[in-house]
Amino acid sequence: MQKVIAIDGPSASGKSTLARNLAARFQIPYINTGSMFRAVALAAQRRGVDRQDAAGLEAMLRELDIDYRRNAAGDWELALDGEFPGEALRTADIAAGASLVATVPAVREALKAMQRKMAGSQWLVMEGRDIGTNVFPDAEVKVFLTARPEVRAARRAAELRAKGDDVPVDEVLTALLERDRRDSERDVAP
Ligand code: DC
Repeated sequence: MQKVIAIDGPSASGKSTLARNLAARFQIPYINTGSMFRAVALAAQRRGVDRQDAAGLEAMLRELDIDYRRNAAGDWELALDGEFPGEALRTADIAAGASLVATVPAVREALKAMQRKMAGSQWLVMEGRDIGTNVFPDAEVKVFLTARPEVRAARRAAELRAKGDDVPVDEVLTALLERDRRDSERDVAP
């Protein structure tokens, strides 16, 4: 058994909110694995690597530094090459890029190795699409969280709007359904 609370489910189902609250309640680290795929997409964009170039992404990942640190507010946040990319990870373009890089087996393997290394003698909360099924099949606690696509799209649109990214809800819904399809039909860890 691994001392992991694994929270799986599609995007905007409420995983992050639940994970963040559990981490605060039990005073344990919180790892949002979606942000790791987003960081790979962002790093690829910055370095001019194509999001579907498996060899290019694999080479990039060998030198990429991804870890989780406490930010100024005391929350656990992803650091890429030593800095918090913050909002740059949460644009619609990077979300689409994350879904693309997530179909590349070498990317999934590299991130899975990093995720497994994070678990140890201390409890942690980890959320994503495949944490309980694939990364930590022996997690002591597993949660699968989902919600209707319309509800998820409305939430995601409100989140984007709050960041000044005013995307119509039906566009968010279309992108979300497309991402669901890609995430659930891919060959590796669907
Ligand atoms: O949860 P999110 O929107 O931040 O995730 C971004 C993308 O990363 C999502 O389209 C699928 C991928 N992902 C994944 O394949 N496996 C995970 N454990 C987490 C995210």
